Amino acid sequence: MLGRDCYAKEDIVSLLEATDPVDIEAIRRQAEAVLLENCGGDVFLRGLVEFSNICACDCLYCGIRKSNQAVRRYLLSQEEIVQAAIQCAQRGYGSYVLQSGERQDEPFIQFVEQAIRAVKRQTTGGHLPQGLGITLSIGEQSRETYERLFAAGAHRYLLRIETSSPSLFRALHPPAQGFEERLACLRALRETGFQVGSGVMIGLPGQTIEDLADDLLFFRDLDVDMIGMGPYIVHRQTPMARHRETVAAQRPRILTQALLMIAVARLVLRDVNIVATTALEAMAPQGQELGLSFGANVIMPPLTPASASNDYTLYEGKPLAADGGDQLEQARQARIRSLGREIGLNRWGDPLHYFRRKAQPAARASCD
Ligand code: 5AD
Repeated sequence: MLGRDCYAKEDIVSLLEATDPVDIEAIRRQAEAVLLENCGGDVFLRGLVEFSNICACDCLYCGIRKSNQAVRRYLLSQEEIVQAAIQCAQRGYGSYVLQSGERQDEPFIQFVEQAIRAVKRQTTGGHLPQGLGITLSIGEQSRETYERLFAAGAHRYLLRIETSSPSLFRALHPPAQGFEERLACLRALRETGFQVGSGVMIGLPGQTIEDLADDLLFFRDLDVDMIGMGPYIVHRQTPMARHRETVAAQRPRILTQALLMIAVARLVLRDVNIVATTALEAMAPQGQELGLSFGANVIMPPLTPASASNDYTLYEGKPLAADGGDQLEQARQARIRSLGREIGLNRWGDPLHYFRRKAQPAARASCD
């Protein structure tokens, strides 16, 4: 079943059901081989700045949901965002991710446009003739807003579908936040010209292996360029904290499942970028390296200033911020190299899938 061109849902389910360490290791090795063959061994680092936790959404799992009164809300200054970007470029990361809670108001959109332009201006030159590559992760916006943000200079966008099961999506979100709207945003992003990333949480209460297999098929059908998936982790100050015990009991299995999802995503989608998420690191020591060894090729080290990072707790146990400084950075890079992988420094590290789909728009259809 390993090493196919095309995977049916049953194949994906049986790979995701693996429990025997020998089988899991075989899947891991195959995923690594597919990665090396399709993308090479470079790991790309993207500095992540969580520039605001002000959020108009009320997702039932998320610690910074609008209804959580216990959160101190913040918006970094333009200067703090640019400073973190300069640090990002100095470390050789090549790309920068601007993430925040979701707001659609005009002052916010203007703020983001201004930040994108300032980061580009301040990081262009030397190794980066076009400045840092900029990825946005600021949620659902109108098509017009996406066009403005793209015109300002961002060229990648992450918007997780959270789960591709419409009924599970409904159980995780208030009625005002619909599945169809999320899907329409993903399509609008793609039409705008962004490299588009999506993803899901793994281990959600009520989520089945079939749902996870459908998630991977969803990514394939949507023809995404990037994937970011991680374990669901309970946050106490959310309605879903009532599932705390059930989730805790499944913790070891959720970690394995998250790693298998990365590996099988690599087998099925081959040339996309896959991130080893921070939530993986929160679940297991060296979780991110595990993610890389199961087929991920991107890491997003946090660059959010420590003063703000404590207030950006989407889930509990999130590794705290920035800035370990240069020594920690050296250690990180040494750990990546010890996996036999190189670090793609001073390059944007765009997903090869994006260029291939541009060159051959019909290529995916052969899988149907
Ligand atoms: N556990 C894991 N991931 C979470 N996210 C939000 N809350 C949690 C949680 N409790 C993820 C969502 C969102 C991304 C920014 O963070 O998938 O898209």
